Amino acid sequence: MFDSIDRTDLLAFLARVALFEGSDERMLGIVADAVQRRRFAAGDVLFREGDAGEAVYVLYRGTVKLSKVDLGGHEKTLALFRPPEYFGEMAPLTEGTRSATALAVDEVEAFLLFDDDFHRLMRDSHRIGLNVNATLARRLRGMDDEAQILSYQDAQGRVAYVLLQLYRSGVVDLTDEAPLVRLTHQELANMAGTSRETVTRALKALEDEAVITTRPKEILMVDLQGLEEILHGIR
Ligand code: CMP
Repeated sequence: MFDSIDRTDLLAFLARVALFEGSDERMLGIVADAVQRRRFAAGDVLFREGDAGEAVYVLYRGTVKLSKVDLGGHEKTLALFRPPEYFGEMAPLTEGTRSATALAVDEVEAFLLFDDDFHRLMRDSHRIGLNVNATLARRLRGMDDEAQILSYQDAQGRVAYVLLQLYRSGVVDLTDEAPLVRLTHQELANMAGTSRETVTRALKALEDEAVITTRPKEILMVDLQGLEEILHGIR
């Protein structure tokens, strides 16, 4: 059912996950014994906002979208994740409920680390405890930056910000031509906190500035420096 992964490859993969960074072979071995591998089809919900949080997910294959829906029914995409990102640590940490819904964008495989094992590892490994704090600080900082950008930027700046974020977090395909984003205008709107029509207009303006080129469902970031300049209002 799964492509097999031998123990050496599993340990090498786990060593690349920010949660386990700096862990020695013995600790990685304990993690490898604890995790359970799961597969999800495109469109499957891994968990929903409000669910009890029973495990941390370490993404091994595919793309996962984390999103929330507001009272008006608008979806806000918080993040798109690719391996070796991990998520779902907040509910287990607070023994509360999931803060967002996780959806498999394409076929996904993840290693699940259940609550009891996660808590045991954090107790036993100072390093893993520090790593969780570093992740939370990174996500909080990302939210601070986003709140600032979304409050003062026009649509063009917001879309430039979202594209650069996708690039920085590795959720682009690095083609020979340029970094490539495969998202619909609606999906970009859900990330930028604006409407699909506004995104379409902003993309046209960015294309006129020659910083991106577009094809159906594809955006090529042909001038990253130019996108940065637009984001920082230098052009
Ligand atoms: P949890 O609340 O257990 O389930 C949803 C997960 O989404 C959460 O843990 C985090 O791992 C992740 N998450 C929530 N908010 C953000 C955010 N702003 N940026 C990145 N990831 C987030």
